[in-house]
Amino acid sequence: MKVTVVGAGAVGATCADNIARKELCTELVLLDIKEGLAEGKAQDMMQTAALLGFDTKVTGSTNDYAKTAGSSVVVITSGIPRKPGMTREELIGTNAGIVKGVAENILKYSPDAIIIVISNPMDTMTYLALKATGLPKNRIIGMGGTLDSSRFKYQLSQHLGCSPADLNAVVVGGHGDTTMIPLIRYATWNSAPVTDFLNTEQQQQVINDTMVGGATLTKLIGTSAWYAPGAAGAALVESIVRDQKKLFTCCVNLDGEYGQKDICLGVPVTIGKNGWEIIIDFKLNAEEQAAFNKSADAVRNMNEVLNTL
Ligand code: LAC
Repeated sequence: MKVTVVGAGAVGATCADNIARKELCTELVLLDIKEGLAEGKAQDMMQTAALLGFDTKVTGSTNDYAKTAGSSVVVITSGIPRKPGMTREELIGTNAGIVKGVAENILKYSPDAIIIVISNPMDTMTYLALKATGLPKNRIIGMGGTLDSSRFKYQLSQHLGCSPADLNAVVVGGHGDTTMIPLIRYATWNSAPVTDFLNTEQQQQVINDTMVGGATLTKLIGTSAWYAPGAAGAALVESIVRDQKKLFTCCVNLDGEYGQKDICLGVPVTIGKNGWEIIIDFKLNAEEQAAFNKSADAVRNMNEVLNTL
């Protein structure tokens, strides 16, 4: 089994590191356009193999897609990250061209690959990857909601004083500061509703902090976060290569589900050997559905920008 991560920046390298440590594949290729970057990071990772005890063979490549040939899963992290004060949406002009080129190059050498998109603005980049490649929709997966749901669990755990791993909580909708929808009504601590333990004000705080989770880190660090985005990408790779059929929120092409069509947006899906497999229909109430529709409108407007580039 071979996996490729395109983009050896902080997110791509962290994703690759997680994949290698978990031995999710025998061969892992890290590719970047910057001369030597992917080779260097791959070698650095391989120098942890004796310490950590993994057998995944990590190699780097400067833009030579032939080295990625025969990959089963490809994670795309390419593009510029946001700087403090920027929205993810502001990256579209630069990142659209990069993501389109990467997706096309990948398919030349790995026609059967399942593609995971991390580059921002993630919902629009996922839609672009789907349109540019013409692949069956189940093979294009946007990572955003997986990350946002993990951040949601973190925020809940801070208020509840519990383990994030004991929480079930999903964020649906877009991967934008104002477009994501943390579904607190459905969140549980093991099986007890978290709303039984948090007052309205605390609930609102958790929702707000989750929505600006990425922006908060960008402000603190000076660039976009990488540990959780990289781990989220690797979790999706794991569910695919081990055919776990785990439930994650991912950005997928909707065809009437959740009342939307011709858009890629975050909804709960099972992830297995075929990519995203089944969309799970969380029964949204009127308020949640209205928020979802509003999120879809914002993402659709962003998708239309693609026609002007
Ligand atoms: C974030 C970027 C990866 O939310 O979208 O940190």
